[in-house]
Amino acid sequence: KKVALLCGGRSGEHEVSLVSANAIAGALDRERYDVLIIAIDRQGKWWLGEHAIARMQKGEEPYGDPVHLLPEPGRQGLIRLTAQGWEEIPVQIFFPVLHGPNGEDGTIQGLLELANVPYVGCGVLASACGMDKGIMKMLFSQAGLSQVPYQVVQRLQWEKESSSVIETLEESIGYPLFVKPANMGSSVGISKASNRQALQEAFAEALLYDNKVVVEKGVEAREIEVSVLGNNEVSASIPGEIVPCNDFYDYTAKYIDDRSRLLIPAPLTQEESEALQQMAIQAFKAIDGTGLARVDFFMDKKNGQIWINEINTLPGFTSISMYPKLWQSSGLGYSDLLHRLIELAEE
Ligand code: ADP
Ligand code: DAL
Ligand code: MG
Repeated sequence: KKVALLCGGRSGEHEVSLVSANAIAGALDRERYDVLIIAIDRQGKWWLGEHAIARMQKGEEPYGDPVHLLPEPGRQGLIRLTAQGWEEIPVQIFFPVLHGPNGEDGTIQGLLELANVPYVGCGVLASACGMDKGIMKMLFSQAGLSQVPYQVVQRLQWEKESSSVIETLEESIGYPLFVKPANMGSSVGISKASNRQALQEAFAEALLYDNKVVVEKGVEAREIEVSVLGNNEVSASIPGEIVPCNDFYDYTAKYIDDRSRLLIPAPLTQEESEALQQMAIQAFKAIDGTGLARVDFFMDKKNGQIWINEINTLPGFTSISMYPKLWQSSGLGYSDLLHRLIELAEE
């Protein structure tokens, strides 16, 4: 069966995606699957080739053969233009290993729907809802999941009346505040602000990535994550804990500094673990998820109160990433997990 991995892409999480896809390419069972690698460059062009990821990581153009996917059903897969015309490269399943905008947000999923080929993971709606922190929070609150106080601010609002936005945030939430682009991941564009000047800088940073900004109350909390897997019948893994090496789990603490630690399983009581698993499944259902997601929580360091932070519909996927590691510790190894995800895509 031919499985095509889509990675890279037009997103602030381009590099992270290449690393995730490299790990998946290495772990897919080659007896079962014929793996095609499509690395998408920062301009959005698709390149097919066994070494496309490594070439893109090193900036060695061309990264592979240029290929296209047409948004019309009935084709067998990819289209490669040749001197003679064009040829079709059949693909049975697409695996979007894309993080962030243009990959985790329903856009690629929409193209795959139009082309009528099965793909791993959430559909258009769940991907879009899971990517946009403003919409995600509305759905979570609708589902009765508790969250830290927050407010959504649009670019125009900030540009027209920043002083009244600041006043409202200071009065209704108070410092420290976390300022985030609504659509991004890997902590790109996120800052913690403890005073007015830092808040202004944080807005400038977040607005580099999105027109919509989410501002939240900063909490002193443990960070607990749960992996979920399934379509109609959804399972939750044991919870894991992140112990970031920085003030918060920023890009450096996630990918550059190797001093952040993962505790698997997270040191929790049985009741706490079960409550988190239950909430993770609820969150997945709230966005209408299918396939997979990782659901992230905060747990108050003082009193153990739990808030949901976010859901990631295409979580980091290296062999040492939290999503697969939680499954591994729950009894499902990396290659078997990939096989299961492909099975779920075909259901
Ligand atoms: P991303 O989608 O980029 O992962 P998150 O919302 O998960 O964005 O935020 C990234 C990190 O920032 C979190 O893992 C956590 O360390 C920190 N953080 C985010 N929001 C808060 C908050 N309200 N209080 C405390 N820390 C936070
Ligand atoms: N957005 C990154 C890849 C994650 O959530 O793991
Ligand atoms: Mg996060």
